[in-house]
Amino acid sequence: MPELYEVLSKEDIDKKVAAVARRISSDFKGSELVMIGVLKGSFVFLSDLARQLTIPVKIDFVGVSSYGDDVASSGRIQLNREIGIDIKEKNILVVEDIVDTGITMNYLIDYLKSFNPLTISICTMIDKQQRRESEIRIDYACHEIKEGFIVGYGLDYAENYRHLPELYHLKL
Ligand code: PRP
Repeated sequence: MPELYEVLSKEDIDKKVAAVARRISSDFKGSELVMIGVLKGSFVFLSDLARQLTIPVKIDFVGVSSYGDDVASSGRIQLNREIGIDIKEKNILVVEDIVDTGITMNYLIDYLKSFNPLTISICTMIDKQQRRESEIRIDYACHEIKEGFIVGYGLDYAENYRHLPELYHLKL
């Protein structure tokens, strides 16, 4: 039976999301921001983050997948949903649940650059650096972890646990 160990409570998450939202609202005050959530994992975080911002934003999603039902990235990125709004010369905030190896984010940055946005910033709920394969400049990270497979708050294992309000370390 897989075991779950709480990493962040709902209250911890709320505080961290609010702190990052304050920074983003301040950094982009007076300019237009387009949030791009990376499906599926970011759907909970983006929804909380967007509602804490005090600046107007537009929201879109891209769909990518690399893990399948596994705990390790396959390294092969599948683009399941293309961006649907015009981001040319716009400030982009890519919103992820987790940056792990960085393979997905690297792919996404290249993909988004092809639409000629003005700037691309990166915001993630969890920054996990241990397995990072390429350098990624993360502008906003709510929480850093060293190791472990994390589920809950949008993150899954074989499509399970996304609905949990807290973040957990999953031990198989
Ligand atoms: C997860 C997560 C990121 C990516 C990060 O997505 O949401 O997009 O993995 O891993 P990386 O830094 O090693 O590339 P996943 O492929 O599990 O799809 P999902 O969001 O639908 O769960």
